[in-house]
Amino acid sequence: MCGIIGYIGKKQAYPIIINGLKKMEYRGYDSYGICVLNGDDVFLKRKVGRISEESSENGCEGFISIGHSRWATTGGVSEKNAHPQEYNQFYVVHNGIIENYKELKEELTLKGHIFSSDTDTEVIAHLISEEFKGNLEDATKKALKRIIGSYGIAVISPKDKGKIVVAKLSSPIILGITDDGYIVASDPSAVINYTKQIVTLDDNEIAILKEDGYTISKDKKIETIDWESDAVDKGVYEHFMLKEIMEEPKVIESAIQGRLLEDNVKLGGLELPKERLKKTDKIYLIGCGTGYYASKVGEYLMEEIGMVDAEAHMGSEIRYRDVRLNPNQTAIFVSQSGETADNLACLKKMKEAKVLSLGVTNVIGSTQTRETEGGVYTRCGPEIAVASTKAFIGQITVLLMIALFLGRQRGLEEGKAKEIITELKNISKKGEIVLSEAEEIKKIAEKYSQYKNFFFIGRKFNYPIAMEGALKLKEISYVHAEGVTGGELKHGPLALIDENCPTIAICPKDSVYDKMLSNIEEVKARKGKVIAIATRGDKKIKEIADDVIYIPETLECLTPLLSAMPLHLFAYFFALALGKDIDKPRNLAKSVTVE
Ligand code: AGP
Repeated sequence: MCGIIGYIGKKQAYPIIINGLKKMEYRGYDSYGICVLNGDDVFLKRKVGRISEESSENGCEGFISIGHSRWATTGGVSEKNAHPQEYNQFYVVHNGIIENYKELKEELTLKGHIFSSDTDTEVIAHLISEEFKGNLEDATKKALKRIIGSYGIAVISPKDKGKIVVAKLSSPIILGITDDGYIVASDPSAVINYTKQIVTLDDNEIAILKEDGYTISKDKKIETIDWESDAVDKGVYEHFMLKEIMEEPKVIESAIQGRLLEDNVKLGGLELPKERLKKTDKIYLIGCGTGYYASKVGEYLMEEIGMVDAEAHMGSEIRYRDVRLNPNQTAIFVSQSGETADNLACLKKMKEAKVLSLGVTNVIGSTQTRETEGGVYTRCGPEIAVASTKAFIGQITVLLMIALFLGRQRGLEEGKAKEIITELKNISKKGEIVLSEAEEIKKIAEKYSQYKNFFFIGRKFNYPIAMEGALKLKEISYVHAEGVTGGELKHGPLALIDENCPTIAICPKDSVYDKMLSNIEEVKARKGKVIAIATRGDKKIKEIADDVIYIPETLECLTPLLSAMPLHLFAYFFALALGKDIDKPRNLAKSVTVE
């Protein structure tokens, strides 16, 4: 995923572009670039490295500019592959993938075009140059007709001054409407310091931005960003990830606000498909990475509370499987960004089979929310750190409410529903208690920070939490960690257990507590160290585990909300102890909009 931005208006463009790129750096951070037009003069700068090192220089004055922060897909990390890509004074920034760029490049090379980069994006600049007859938007429209793939682009040229041409297909694009100009960007975080009024482009739409106005292929409503600009600042925290973990209890409150009744839930996004949901005989839950682990928790919730058959799948797998799909089924896509390409490809497959498609999404107006037939927002506010934390908590909270919605349609007892809802109202306070142990968790993380391999084990609702805890540790500290079910340990993984491979055992007082205790004993018998996540007051576990992190007692189906929090903090403090780049881990990006 990359971040694109553009500005045209009455203000100097450079500072707006740089500020926007800094806000969007989480989208991609291996290189960046900016192009500013000032009459016939062009300022072009492209650099490998972080935008935070950028400083202005002479010649960057001007009122029209485009910029880009890159996560390399086609073409390695280098200055020549950074955007804006240019040919014959046509400058392009692009987020997406051009699947037929090689054929186009060959065709253009035969026509005498010389390419200067290894990127797919550069092909767009060459195609525009080929089609240009004096009007930039006409040339861009003709050029895009040759493209197969996805794009969110902004184009400028001194050959047709005074405008930015913007086009969207599959990759997100919003327009920020300010008092003195217009900002085009990949997401609202780049415009929030200047305006809350935005327009979201749909697929195949083209916008032409000028200093005094903009035109789009059809009338669009102006939306208002529903979060504050400080939501995209770290505030008092050293890293976005820590800020977002500390927001997790608030996220639960935000997700349930206005949605809990005495013995049921009220989910506006499920009103339309209500009757189809009542009859659905199978729920597919689909996500990637952390979204998949939330889906896996959802699988247990749908079975136990929703009283419906459910299967969780990785979007990148089920999209290629020959699953038997029919209109009596429902697919729920679980995604923070709503832009994950593997999920969106699977969404297309589900819709072709007339499966009811719903979304559990955080980013308002994202592709997933526009392509599904209904759904529920997680309302977490922007999640900037690449490692997803608060969004995971929001996803589980929403999936629990969807399970309640389904269960009450299918005979879930009123008393059971009331019990869950009552506890759901209290769980954020219990989450605050968990987070108040941060210093204790930090000490434990530091104590184990020299280990290079970990197992995370859990059962039932906490098996996905074991996988989530392992992923968090892997992706920000680069040590190997694996999440397995407690029951699987003896079927092979136990061979790896010794004094050099600690195990984090999620072992709250629940229906599988005794089985988890046995797993801890199995590990200890092989000299493995054990860090247990246990229910406050459990003295027995203190006798066998090397370290214990306590969480308050709660209903079994709600334990994932509490057991995930210490694992997020453990991963954070572990990576901090190793001095890793926590918010922007190597090789990764916040949203994987490529397959
Ligand atoms: C999670 O910490 C990772 N950053 C990654 O696995 C992420 O969850 C996955 O790419 C899905 O992203 P999404 O929720 O935006 O769809």
